[in-house]
Amino acid sequence: MAMIIDGKRIADEIREEVRVEVAALKASKGIVPGLAVVLVGDDPASDVYVRMKGKACEELGLHSVTDRLPASTTEAALLKRVAELNADPAIHGILVQMPLPKHINEARVIEAIDPVKDVDGFHPVNVGKLIIGEDTLRPCTPAGVQELLLRSNIDPAGMHVVVVGRSNIVGKPVASILMQKQKGANAIVTIAHTGAKDLRPYLVSADILIAAIGRPESIRGEDLKTGVVVIDVGISRVDDATAKKGYRLVGDVHFASASTVASAITPVPGGVGPMTIAMLMKNTLKACRWKSG
Ligand code: GUN
Repeated sequence: MAMIIDGKRIADEIREEVRVEVAALKASKGIVPGLAVVLVGDDPASDVYVRMKGKACEELGLHSVTDRLPASTTEAALLKRVAELNADPAIHGILVQMPLPKHINEARVIEAIDPVKDVDGFHPVNVGKLIIGEDTLRPCTPAGVQELLLRSNIDPAGMHVVVVGRSNIVGKPVASILMQKQKGANAIVTIAHTGAKDLRPYLVSADILIAAIGRPESIRGEDLKTGVVVIDVGISRVDDATAKKGYRLVGDVHFASASTVASAITPVPGGVGPMTIAMLMKNTLKACRWKSG
């Protein structure tokens, strides 16, 4: 049976490191890292994330500002707000929660954020720096995947990492991170995606499988190599009449079958999920350190 990679425990470890560093920065220089989160509209899932981010800031001693703007907010008004946050010296990180309402161009908003405050790592400047191997603010979930591996003593160097999914938020950046000629990376990376007629030949060749395709329980143990490390980024609700809420959360990987062949696997929930906010806190601290030398 596979070792379970406990994302909650690892995320707590990172949060504690950030908390200690934030306290030290405050004590030595009087500087408090600040994060602004902007939510447009009232999507319930986004609302939960935004609240969790505010709570994490509070627990770790960061300054936090949360803007809740109505769904009718114009793109111009949102861009104006981003410009104010860019100019605000108490704010070191800016995160505009996605998805945005249809009438707002997401790319335009991302590009309006000052790259040095872009704690999501979504700005084209940061995407470019990531690809060429420069130190920069890196997207939180992909950076969290790398931390999960390293803190579980799994070195991706020389391994065949198969990323399933090519999104800008997970697939592309996690592939970019793990292929770098750097410590904690140096993997041979394949990106497989929905364009494949049959994913199985790619899946079976993975030493490390990173599933981020958004198809619940679509990858089964039978498709995987014995000893594979499975990192499941997917999270979907599936109906389950036996569950109290009438649904349960599952990943892209069928956990029961995969855990019989894998050497290590992340559960859903409690695997990759908790890492995203931990890495957001780490990025905000990093952005603050840059600003304050
Ligand atoms: N929506 C879902 N995930 C994310 C994320 O990592 N950052 C932002 N800004 N929005 C999201």
